[in-house]
Amino acid sequence: MNLRSAVVSQFKRPRGILGRVVGWILASRGSNLARNRWTVDLLDPKSGERVLEIGCGPGVALELCLLRANVAVGGVDHSALMVSQARRRNFNAVREGRAVLVEGTIDDAPRDLAPFDKLFSINVIQFVDLADFAASARRLLKSGGVFAATYQPRHPKATRDDARAMAVRVNDVLRQSGFVDMRIEEIDLKPVPAVCVLARAV
Ligand SMILES: C[S@@+](CC[C@H](N)C(=O)[O-])C[C@H]1O[C@@H](n2cnc3c(N)ncnc32)[C@H](O)[C@@H]1O
Repeated sequence: MNLRSAVVSQFKRPRGILGRVVGWILASRGSNLARNRWTVDLLDPKSGERVLEIGCGPGVALELCLLRANVAVGGVDHSALMVSQARRRNFNAVREGRAVLVEGTIDDAPRDLAPFDKLFSINVIQFVDLADFAASARRLLKSGGVFAATYQPRHPKATRDDARAMAVRVNDVLRQSGFVDMRIEEIDLKPVPAVCVLARAV
């Protein structure tokens, strides 16, 4: 495995020295920051709400949520390294109890904060069983709560069609899992557009 493919394989679960490189890329690459900002804009967190991110990586989107409104946030990531980077990035909010960051998967989401008004993920759905993920998300959301999943394909030769195909798959799984009011948004990013599927829990 060459260095590039070793780094790419880390995006699923960053660890060790290469994981630190991945954390740095996630927190600084232009397209990554843009899709984080775009997703938080779509989610539109409001003061008093509880917001959960699955696969929070180094905590960039959680920081944006906290800057935007007086929210309480939960973040989950199965990479211990990413959780420690997210804690460092959101140090004050963690100390004040406005952010609870946990190592694990969606089923380890902080119960004290549940149920959530909003639950989101950014470039994580390609790594999970979608039906299980949707079922767990539904259990964690309030009735009327908002689900948002953003995806920007990053594999070699990725295309807009790859992004749209994933959006259709997610949309179908959400419908089968009892979500309503689905809508698909798209943003023109380099090298490939990103999609976000939004839905409402009943
Ligand atoms: C491509 S990175 C994206 C990180 C962040 N959402 C962002 O866009 O900056 C994927 C992240 O999801 C985490 N992850 C992947 N599968 C996961 C799962 N099943 N449960 C929790 N975290 C997961 C990885 O550890 C990694 O931090």
